[in-house]
Amino acid sequence: MKKVLVLSASPRRDGNSWTLAQAAVAGAREAGHEVEFAHLNDYVQGLFRDCRTCRDATGACSVGDRYDELLLEKVVPADGLVVATPLYWYGMSGALKTFYDRLFCHTSGSAPDGDAVVAGLTGKKVALLISCEESYRGATLGLTAQFQELARYLHQDLVGVAVGVGNSRGEVRSDPSLPLDQAADLGRRLFDIRVTDYRIDTERSNRVWAGRTS
Ligand SMILES: Cc1cc2nc3c(=O)[nH]c(=O)nc-3n(C[C@H](O)[C@H](O)[C@H](O)COP(=O)(O)O)c2cc1C
Repeated sequence: MKKVLVLSASPRRDGNSWTLAQAAVAGAREAGHEVEFAHLNDYVQGLFRDCRTCRDATGACSVGDRYDELLLEKVVPADGLVVATPLYWYGMSGALKTFYDRLFCHTSGSAPDGDAVVAGLTGKKVALLISCEESYRGATLGLTAQFQELARYLHQDLVGVAVGVGNSRGEVRSDPSLPLDQAADLGRRLFDIRVTDYRIDTERSNRVWAGRTS
């Protein structure tokens, strides 16, 4: 059994990102994992600042919201992370960007708990769920590429991306591409999805699915 954290990064608590996130929760539970769900906005209120001016006497971050609780008690212990975000201006929500910005406070050379946090961030399986109004494929490419780079930098595996098109609350349920099914599948197979990143000289067999006959 693995630990999975599903994060919804929209300020709309019952919106499309939440709807996709709940499908991923159901899929991961179906696979027998220990699943926790969290609204990012309950934990992240303050923007990233200049660490020199906001660290307290012990060197700890003093922004004063629940970011540390989220990072240290939920994100770090999780084996897998499913992030659901609305598309805002062709990128992630501001709260989610702040979540990543503020990782710096815990991973920079001057962070008191840096080594432990870095060790806890690496090796995770990550899935991205995007809700957006525009069905144009290019609208989500920037965010997808950013997540791929985040995963590379953090030594994580981005196992998949599901995009749900909708605008009013829960409208992703009506998207004919069935993004809820995709989100559930990502949750269910988070640790089983094959992620490869070959180089020209990578040694490999000529079969991707060894052991399967068709
Ligand atoms: C500030 C803001 C910016 C947005 N920018 C985009 C955008 O660039 N492209 C898009 O397709 N939809 C955009 N939308 C629409 C949302 O992505 C869409 O309504 C989404 O389903 C909302 O998800 P939620 O219910 O989880 O908040 C934007 C909405 C807001 C409020």
